[in-house]
Amino acid sequence: MKSRKIIAALMAAVLLGSTGIVTACATKTEGQTEAAKTEATNADGYSFYETKSGLSVTVSADEDDSLPTIAVLATGGTIAGAGEEGKATNYSAGQLDVGTLVNSAKGITEVANVRGAQVCNVGSDDITAEHWLTIANTINEMAKDEEIDGFVITHGTDTLDETSYFLNLTVKTDKPVVLTGAMRPATATSADGPMNLYQSIALAASKDAAGQGSMVVFSDGIYGGRDVQKISTFQTDAFNSKDFGCLGYMVDGVPHFYNKTVKRHTTESEFDVSKLKELPKVAVAFFTIDADPGILDYYAESGVQGIVVAGAGAGSYSEAWNNKIEELASTGIPVIRCSRISAGYIPHDDYFLGNMARGNDLAPQKASVLLRLALTVTNDIEKIQAMFNEY
Ligand code: SIN
Repeated sequence: MKSRKIIAALMAAVLLGSTGIVTACATKTEGQTEAAKTEATNADGYSFYETKSGLSVTVSADEDDSLPTIAVLATGGTIAGAGEEGKATNYSAGQLDVGTLVNSAKGITEVANVRGAQVCNVGSDDITAEHWLTIANTINEMAKDEEIDGFVITHGTDTLDETSYFLNLTVKTDKPVVLTGAMRPATATSADGPMNLYQSIALAASKDAAGQGSMVVFSDGIYGGRDVQKISTFQTDAFNSKDFGCLGYMVDGVPHFYNKTVKRHTTESEFDVSKLKELPKVAVAFFTIDADPGILDYYAESGVQGIVVAGAGAGSYSEAWNNKIEELASTGIPVIRCSRISAGYIPHDDYFLGNMARGNDLAPQKASVLLRLALTVTNDIEKIQAMFNEY
């Protein structure tokens, strides 16, 4: 009975206009407090409030005070995908709303009260910096509400590793922030989304999960938002953290932690996105044998504020690229050396020229997230290098 009510409430929130891309429009009126205000109550007693970031959040009438309360922010992806009954391919991502997703996590009402909001409903290749800012600022606002104990973000898997790192660097709370998705659409036989979501909500509801930075739950593993990467294009065990392994396991709804990140994150991070409407643009240039260094000129002239190079081996590239990067130093555009290899570290190397910093062990797509945030603070290459060492 309770489960049916929560779903109805979440569905109603979606019908009340929170589908589609919600932009970061502030709707707070004079006299409202930081905490979100209840704006409407429907005939069944479900209430809805709008956050400052413009998201409509649903509150069930029969929340159980003895349970933690978790906000699920849905963005789309395969977890919300639908297609031919039974099949795992040829489906459309971002079809189901947040209420339907929560409904699929059977038994979750015994674990937590769930409040739902639809950020957008897109494949994760269409996630933008605007969505990132909406999600981070919504979490930062809702985290001040003592009724909220944690957050789950449902997301497509393609770019989940970028969003997890962005949130790791920009949310300002010790309350758990957990991202999850699925490799099979909701209509597939043995869809993996419901268990991933169940475990994510359970993790977000656990006191053990506080202060760990953003986390990703996938296929019974708990991964750190900084280190996690997608490692399979189609298998359900699709995420890993290379040399550093997982933070722990989810066994049904119970987390078991073994590791902790030592890198700066969340409350220890200097990045403040509360007033940003956009992020600096950066580009990733992929080096291969015979790759034309002209791509670096193209990016520099296109107006990007930084370039990440996915180099070979330990972040290497040809003499032609090295000379081109030296030439670009006069533009002041920072170049971050990373590797196209999925594991390892970029050691110091004097051979490399230009306005260049080393990308530590970060994958190029992760380095681009940190570089975008770094550029909101400085374009001094020494300070940027320090950030790549610390975060
Ligand atoms: C997406 O990233 O939105 C599609 C792929 C997936 O979620 O697995």
